[in-house]
Amino acid sequence: MNDYMGKVPGQFFAFNIWNIESARAVMDAAAALRCNVILQTSVKSFALLDREELRWFVTRYMKKHDIQVYLHLDHAQKTEIIAEAIANGWDSVMVDASDRPLEENIGLTNEVCAMAEKSGVLVEAEIGAVGKTRDEIDIREAGIATIEDIKRFVKSTRIDLLAAAIGTSHGSYHESPQIHYDLIEETGRITDVPLVVHGGTGLGDETLLRLLSYPNIKKINISTDVKLAYRNGILECIQGGYMEEEDFNPLKVTKLIHDSIENMVAKKLRLLRI
Ligand code: 13P
Repeated sequence: MNDYMGKVPGQFFAFNIWNIESARAVMDAAAALRCNVILQTSVKSFALLDREELRWFVTRYMKKHDIQVYLHLDHAQKTEIIAEAIANGWDSVMVDASDRPLEENIGLTNEVCAMAEKSGVLVEAEIGAVGKTRDEIDIREAGIATIEDIKRFVKSTRIDLLAAAIGTSHGSYHESPQIHYDLIEETGRITDVPLVVHGGTGLGDETLLRLLSYPNIKKINISTDVKLAYRNGILECIQGGYMEEEDFNPLKVTKLIHDSIENMVAKKLRLLRI
């Protein structure tokens, strides 16, 4: 039975992973710091990976290291994919119907809540539209959730987590995001449903700590930074001469990539303890 998010006190970072190795790097950071963590799969990764293998690996890892690790499906728009995640033992799913009119978003979200409840799987849904960092500022601002819509959404659904667009965006920031802290606070006054912050990549420690200071922020998502850490590991291999044919050692390459992800994750997880 699933018992996290609203039910377990504390706050979580959720890192996007795409295979066993990226999952292992994130979990190694969490285990070393004795921290619980969420691993999330995008719909694209979910389509490619061996779900049974990942579920088995994560379960075995958390038992062995005595930490809680949760598997989450990120930004799913189709109920078929969500049903597969539920059937494969994912702990929570995100239904993202934020591109639809509010009533349709509510309708699809409720459909998913009904499916998920039967298996004790938690549901995250999006309100407003979390943009991309490459979008123009006025497009991103237009996507900010309104408190009226949030009120209506939480009253009309049985979601466990709310991804409200508060001014963060997906990708690497070109300039500091304008985060609507007042909206976080106001949401906390009108509902017990905790918030999820999308677009955690590139938010400095000060911003992350400020976000974590709001008790109604439960989960901060980080994806691009995991990919960049993977890339940095590869660059380090090239720059260090480890890709030369002579003496090429896959173990060394795998380790450098692993450590690059683990170090990035550890830096974020340490913020939970300050
Ligand atoms: P970033 O890629 O900006 O970290 O966003 C992650 C995210 O919100 C995944 O849903």
